[in-house]
Amino acid sequence: MLNIGLLGAGRIGRIHGSNVAAHPGARLVAVADASEAAAQAISAQTGAKVAGIEAILADTAIQAVVICTPTDMHADLIEAAAKAGKAVFCEKPVDLSAGRIRTCLKSVEAAGVPLMIGFNRRFDPNFASVKQRVMNGEAGNVELVTILSRDPSPPPAEYVARSGGLFRDMMIHDLDMARFLLGEEPVEVHAVGSSLVDPAIGVAGDVDTAAVLLKTASGRIAQISCSRRATYGYDQRIEVHGSKGMIRAGNVHTTTVEVATGAGVVADPVQNFFLERYAAAYRIELQSFLDAVAKGLPPSPSGEDGLRAQVLADAATEACFSGKPVRL
Ligand SMILES: NC(=O)c1ccc[n+]([C@@H]2O[C@H](COP(=O)([O-])OP(=O)(O)OC[C@H]3O[C@@H](n4cnc5c(N)ncnc54)[C@H](O)[C@@H]3O)[C@@H](O)[C@H]2O)c1
Repeated sequence: MLNIGLLGAGRIGRIHGSNVAAHPGARLVAVADASEAAAQAISAQTGAKVAGIEAILADTAIQAVVICTPTDMHADLIEAAAKAGKAVFCEKPVDLSAGRIRTCLKSVEAAGVPLMIGFNRRFDPNFASVKQRVMNGEAGNVELVTILSRDPSPPPAEYVARSGGLFRDMMIHDLDMARFLLGEEPVEVHAVGSSLVDPAIGVAGDVDTAAVLLKTASGRIAQISCSRRATYGYDQRIEVHGSKGMIRAGNVHTTTVEVATGAGVVADPVQNFFLERYAAAYRIELQSFLDAVAKGLPPSPSGEDGLRAQVLADAATEACFSGKPVRL
């Protein structure tokens, strides 16, 4: 039984907190949040005590922490938890600066604790099956990876201004998925972006619509299409094309019901956003972390995966705003 402390009890913290509490191999012992009400809500639901971050890190009965605070706290908390000897699961991204991620990973290595980063989409049963089939060789040699990733609606411009921009905040998941499916590291990054959805996002210096092309040393190509708005819900599709064929995973709808008439076939909408679409992925992700810690194996995705996705997000940002491809 692994005793776990939750740091940050907001949108994603509530999901991980409930999953820890429901897991037979883990116990949610304590929860910390700057908002007393947010921490109390999880405490009431799970029985975990409300505590400060320092108290959780100092508690030797707590063996692992799940970090769900805002991004700008992640690197400091990872380091503090590592120094306290705790296994760490941290939400993406590790930090908005690749340099800061590197120093953070050095501290984790020195402390010798396991670190896993929350690239939850790797654990989505549909996408995991695509990956497994790619690994089985069912598509043959991978040539083209296509990722379509569109949020239902844009976040407020105030959020965008502090987010690090679309490539670091949103597309980072897709950049990780591209690495995951390509099976090789991209060495060339092309990017274009526009503010077409919300002019305030453009005023904040960001884009809300973007396309990225990645190329690996052997010539494999990934294309990523991102938008902050999709009128039909959370659009999450991937496709891997190779020498033997194509493997793809489509959207998940709210029901499997279809109505067919002479006018066409109508399905229910796709699931609205990440809390619904990736509910299973978050559970399996936590299971994977707990398994790795229990078996003493390095968890995956690792801190290094967090760094590599960030380097790609930085390169995409540079390519978009300079209008020139970036070589890595
Ligand atoms: N993997 C995913 O699918 C996914 C989804 C959403 C968010 N995230 C990531 O998770 C992180 C949190 O995002 P969110 O949407 O849950 O944000 P949120 O704002 O809903 O929650 C953050 C929580 O941290 C608390 N907090 C802020 N400052 C604090 C402090 N100094 N000490 C303690 N608690 C503090 C806030 O009160 C809030 O409850 C972000 O880094 C985000 O990128 C990942």
